[in-house]
Amino acid sequence: MRVLIIGSGGRESAFAWSISKSRSLEALFCAPGNPGTATLATNLEINIKDFNAIKRAVLEHKIELVIVGPEEPLVNGLGDFFRSDDQLKDTLFIGPDRKGAQLEGSKEFAKEFMEKWSIPTASYKSFNKSSIKEAEKFLETLRAPYVLKADGLAAGKGVVIPDNIDDARRELSSMLDGKFGKAGDKVVIEEYLHGIELSVFVLTDGKDYLILPEAKDYKRIGDGDTGLNTGGMGAVSPVPFADETFMKKVEERIIKPTVEGLKRDGIKYTGFIFIGLMNCAGDPYVIEYNVRMGDPETEAVLPRIKSDLLVHLVAAARGELGSETIVKDERQAMTLVTVSGGYPEEYAKGFIINGLDELKEVNLFHAGTKSLDGKIVTAGGRVLAITALGNNIECCRQILYREVSSVRYEGIYFRKDIGSDLQNY
Ligand code: AMP
Ligand code: GLY
Repeated sequence: MRVLIIGSGGRESAFAWSISKSRSLEALFCAPGNPGTATLATNLEINIKDFNAIKRAVLEHKIELVIVGPEEPLVNGLGDFFRSDDQLKDTLFIGPDRKGAQLEGSKEFAKEFMEKWSIPTASYKSFNKSSIKEAEKFLETLRAPYVLKADGLAAGKGVVIPDNIDDARRELSSMLDGKFGKAGDKVVIEEYLHGIELSVFVLTDGKDYLILPEAKDYKRIGDGDTGLNTGGMGAVSPVPFADETFMKKVEERIIKPTVEGLKRDGIKYTGFIFIGLMNCAGDPYVIEYNVRMGDPETEAVLPRIKSDLLVHLVAAARGELGSETIVKDERQAMTLVTVSGGYPEEYAKGFIINGLDELKEVNLFHAGTKSLDGKIVTAGGRVLAITALGNNIECCRQILYREVSSVRYEGIYFRKDIGSDLQNY
């Protein structure tokens, strides 16, 4: 199989690492990739917003399977582009069409979908500029804290949770006034759910599905879950409180009706569904859907898949997932992300990264790095994702924090407490 992975972060590095182990692999390409994927695949310098450039690469390199890492190309219709193009329609493709990608691309669409198919989620209403008065009235029916979500894609920043009603009103009007651009033309206001979060990942061919290992990520920049939200500072898999009883509820109440609902709505969905969940006293509620894998969750999830991921992906793209079984590694995985000093606000780039060849007991996944004059330098906010496998969380913590001490670049920062909140479960 000749495979192309689209994207350039830690998630795509983990895909490249996992797929490069497959016996079915003939050639692996990554567009645009990073210095980590370059050690496992051929990086192609392509602007992934340019669908015709992707098409040329697919034809030139005789690609048979395309895996899309980030959501944006999917929300912009890369799936439709492939499935409707005469020269591409036989290329296997992992990712939904534009319609299915609305599960992530529009919060309102996702909420309506869940309501229609009775999938547990926070109660909500959506508003636009002309219904701001009704929105304010709705806020008064809720209790603090208030959850306000820009309908469209807002680079992960579109959810605001003010803890008093005056701030909620102010936030609502600034969102409807364009704080997040067009993404905030509509705002979903919903009930605040109390509980503990985790993420469940599903690979589906539109009829059948495989449940991948679940994960929990650490979103805030500071230890003890303090400070600004980030793309994710670390992840663990498995999640100790996601026991068999809980996961059975997730499958029956959420995964089955989601896959079935998409099918009955006439949405052909091939690809990943990432379900952000709240465990509220043992019952799962959906916080959000994403139409891709999570980052850094992928870096903790894929090392726990013992069966051949590429074989599963090919089966999904062919609509033959019913005959696949996933084999999971029972060990604990934990991922630590090192970032640039200042992230998620302003940060400088271009610092030389030293010590990578001293990493021994971990998987190293490059995220925001690039090669410059034979050296690896920082090139993004999240720089590296490092994953350890061990018998338990404490063991993973020891490996990770021992190993990361050999990585050096100016301004390096990472959380010191990944997994420590879960040690007593
Ligand atoms: P989202 O982009 O929808 O994942 O929201 C970002 C974060 O906001 C989530 O990871 C949760 O921590 C939080 N959040 C979103 N919706 C709710 C809710 N209804 N209740 C409590 N927290 C929420
Ligand atoms: N780590 C959260 C995400 O990928 O959206």
